[in-house]
Amino acid sequence: MDGSARIGLVGLGTMGSALALNIAERGFAVAVTNRTAARLPGFVAEAGPLAERITAAETPQALVAALARPRAVVLMVPAGEATDAQIAALRPLLEPGDVLVDGGNADFRDTRRRSAELEAAGIRFLGLGVSGGEAGARQGPSLMAGGSAQAWEAVREVLEAIAARFAGMPCARLLGPDGTGHFVKTVHNGIEYADMQLIAEIYGLMRSEGRSAHAIGEVFAGWNEGPLNAYLTEITAAVLLADDPATGRPVVDVIADRAGQKGTGRWTVIEAQRLGVPATVTEAAVAARAWSAAAAARAAGTALLAPPDRAHGPIPTEGDLEKALLAGRILALSQGFQVLAAASEEFGWGLDLAACAEVWRAGCIIRSGLLDDIAHAFREGVPHGILAFAPFFAARLAETVPALRRVVAAAAGAGEPAPALAAALAWHDTFRTARGTTNLIQAQRDYFGAHGFERIDAEGSHHGPWAS
Ligand code: 6PG
Repeated sequence: MDGSARIGLVGLGTMGSALALNIAERGFAVAVTNRTAARLPGFVAEAGPLAERITAAETPQALVAALARPRAVVLMVPAGEATDAQIAALRPLLEPGDVLVDGGNADFRDTRRRSAELEAAGIRFLGLGVSGGEAGARQGPSLMAGGSAQAWEAVREVLEAIAARFAGMPCARLLGPDGTGHFVKTVHNGIEYADMQLIAEIYGLMRSEGRSAHAIGEVFAGWNEGPLNAYLTEITAAVLLADDPATGRPVVDVIADRAGQKGTGRWTVIEAQRLGVPATVTEAAVAARAWSAAAAARAAGTALLAPPDRAHGPIPTEGDLEKALLAGRILALSQGFQVLAAASEEFGWGLDLAACAEVWRAGCIIRSGLLDDIAHAFREGVPHGILAFAPFFAARLAETVPALRRVVAAAAGAGEPAPALAAALAWHDTFRTARGTTNLIQAQRDYFGAHGFERIDAEGSHHGPWAS
C-alpha cells in the first residue's frame, strides 16, 4: 500500500532538519529518515506541533513506503560518497517516474553523472543548490535547480512553497538541465567567498588604524543602510558588535585567524580556469583561506620579511572604504556571471543569467540590493556578456573605482594585504586596456620555444629575428 506523504527527506543534519520543518510548516506531509535512526525521536520532539505532518522512517524502505506516488525524495547528505551511498540504497526501491533531488553542495560533474545514470533508468533527478544556511533552510532558502522538466514539475509546488520570496516571486527556479543547479550554487559560493574576503580586507584596514571591533561594526551597520546593503554586510556588523561571554571581549578578537573551507570556492576557481574566464577575486579569497592555515610560517615571516616603511600615504576615508567595497563587490559578481555564461556555452545549458540573479535576490548568502539591478541589466542585454560593462554598472564603477584605487594604494603602502581588492582593480584595469603586454609574452615564448606569434599587420604565424 502506498503512503500519503508528499515528499521524503534523507539526512537530518542542520540543513536537512531545517528544510524538513519548513516543508511541514508549508502544509506538506513529509517522511524523514537519517543514516543513524537514533536521531529521529529528537527531531520529532523538536518539530513540536509540526510533528503531525512528519513520518519518521527508520529505514529507506520505510521512507519509500510512506510516500505517495510518484515518490519524491530529497537527499540532504554530505556531498560525495555519502550521496552516492544514499542513491545506491534508494535506487532499488524506486520506480520509473519517481524523483530524486540532491540538495547537497554537490560537484556539478557528479550531478551530471548521476543525472545521466538515473534518468537512463527512468528515475527523474534534480540537482538542487540550496543557499541560506540554517535560517534560510528553515524560513525560506534560495533554490537553484538543474535537471529534467519532469523532475522539476514533480516537486515544483513544494520547492516554490518553501523558498524565499522577492516581491512575491519564489526564489526557486529550474535553471537548466543536469548539473546547472549545482554549478550555479558553486559559483554562488565562489562569489560568497570573494565578498567575505573583500569585507575582511576592509575590516583589516580599519583595524590597522587601531579601531575597535565595535567601532568597525558600527561602520558596517551604517553601510548596510546604503548601497552596500546586503546580508553579508548585515551579519558582518552583527558579528563585530557581539561580545564573547567568557572574556567580555569582542568575539572576533578571540577567534583564531584560520579559515575553514569545504571546497565550493576552490571548485569555482578551478572551473573558471578550465573555462578560460578566471575569477580572480574568488581566487584571492581561496588563497587567503589557504594561507590562513600556515600560522607557523606566518609567525616566522613576521621576523624574516621586512616591514614597509611607514611613510605611506593618507589613511583611506570611511567614504573611500565604502566605495572600494562596492566596486569590489560589483567586480566579483561580474566575474561570477562570466563564469556562468562560459559554462552555459561550454555545456549547452542555455542558462538565463537574469533568472540566476533573480533566484539570488532573497534567501541566499549573497543576497544584496545589487541583484535586482543585475537581473534588469541581463534582461536588457549586457555588452560582451560582461556585467561591469552594462551601463548601470559601468556608471557605478566610474563612481567607485577611484576610491578602490586609493584604498589598494594605501593598503600597499601600509603593508596591509588586500589581495581581493587588488585583484578586482587589476581586472578592471586589464579590461580597460585594449593593447596590453602579452605581445612581450609571445616574443619570449617564441624566443625560447619557437612557439610563433601573430603580427598586427599580417596573417599567419611568425617568428622573431632571434639568433638561433
Ligand atoms: C549557503 C552557504 C553554504 C555553506 C557553505 C560554506 O549558500 O548557504 O554557501 O552552502 O555555508 O558550504 O562553505 P565553506 O565551508 O567552504 O566556507
